[in-house]
Amino acid sequence: MPKTQILLTGGAGYIGSHTIIELLHNGYEVISVDNYNNSSPKTYERICQITGDSIKHYDIDLCDLGLTKKVFDENAEIRGVIHFAALKSVPESVEKPVLYYRNNINSLLNILDCIRNYNIPNFIFSSSCSVYGNAGQLPVNEDTPIGIIESPYAYTKLLGERIIQDCAKVHSTIKALSLRYFNPVGAHSSGLNGELPTNRPNNLVPVITQTAIGKIKEMSVFGNDYKTRDGSCIRDYIHVSDIADAHVKALKYLLAEKQDSNYSLFNLGSGKGVSVLEAIQAFEKIAKLKLNYKIVPRRAGDVEAIYSDSTKAHKLLHWKPQHDIYSMMETAWEWEQHLAKNQ
Ligand SMILES: NC(=O)c1ccc[n+]([C@@H]2O[C@H](COP(=O)([O-])OP(=O)(O)OC[C@H]3O[C@@H](n4cnc5c(N)ncnc54)[C@H](O)[C@@H]3O)[C@@H](O)[C@H]2O)c1
Repeated sequence: MPKTQILLTGGAGYIGSHTIIELLHNGYEVISVDNYNNSSPKTYERICQITGDSIKHYDIDLCDLGLTKKVFDENAEIRGVIHFAALKSVPESVEKPVLYYRNNINSLLNILDCIRNYNIPNFIFSSSCSVYGNAGQLPVNEDTPIGIIESPYAYTKLLGERIIQDCAKVHSTIKALSLRYFNPVGAHSSGLNGELPTNRPNNLVPVITQTAIGKIKEMSVFGNDYKTRDGSCIRDYIHVSDIADAHVKALKYLLAEKQDSNYSLFNLGSGKGVSVLEAIQAFEKIAKLKLNYKIVPRRAGDVEAIYSDSTKAHKLLHWKPQHDIYSMMETAWEWEQHLAKNQ
């Protein structure tokens, strides 16, 4: 029987590459598109090392509609699209809003044009907990009212969700869902794949591991005067392999036509709030070393505290995270050490 063909955008990136691994393990055929804006084609070699499979991939900027159409012209059997491609740095989006709106919205519009014109039925969108802004009530579930959005990046996600919802309303062939990730961290259990930003990382865990390995001399903790238990921001960290697993489950849910409307959304988080200082302590315990960090003023765009209620994904997608904060730190650290030995 031929394998079900799935197109991933941003497949050379952090979450995309882990999802490719899970999709291959589950018997799907994967095609990836990326412009290596924040990644490298070497990702595909790592995927091959882990899975034994090589995958078809395109070096394309999805903001170019003509090139995007070409991918669909050349692959008539695509049954679903998982759209990861986006710029994702909150502070950079505050500094360069036009870049973020242009890249994240234009690429989404082009992909939506294609799934409509080429009759691709299933679509999954990478959204983010940043759409909740500073939520009044914690934990947040999918019905929590959207708060004040803190960054252009978060707006691209909220707007993206709205665009997809509007399209799914009028194009009845499209079944779409958005997954609002909380804070994906960690690396593949093989130690052979993990987060490898080409730009300086802004997310906490790569900053922690790069500080521990000596790539960053001293890391900054942005603010210790928030109204939280230790003054630092609180986030809901979730292992990247759990996020990847959720995509496979969400895809199966769509392919089996279990979604009773054309559009829905799901939170993907661990449900546990961990402060920046607690995350640092968890890492220090796992790695058995002291991190060099300093407290600096708050950073624009950061929300004070957020963690999820992911009951909907547990019930409908039959998804439950398997990794705790120590496993997240351990795998991230193994990956950083692997990089140090192999670069
Ligand atoms: N990592 C997180 O903390 C997090 C949290 C919530 C949501 N998300 C979302 O999940 C998705 C994947 O995130 P990630 O952490 O894997 O990021 P990433 O930067 O590692 O991967 C994104 C990939 O998209 C590619 N890309 C960007 N713009 C492109 C374009 N115009 N054409 C082709 N390729 C393009 C990049 O080169 C990169 O490989 C993004 O949409 C991000 O906004 C990430």
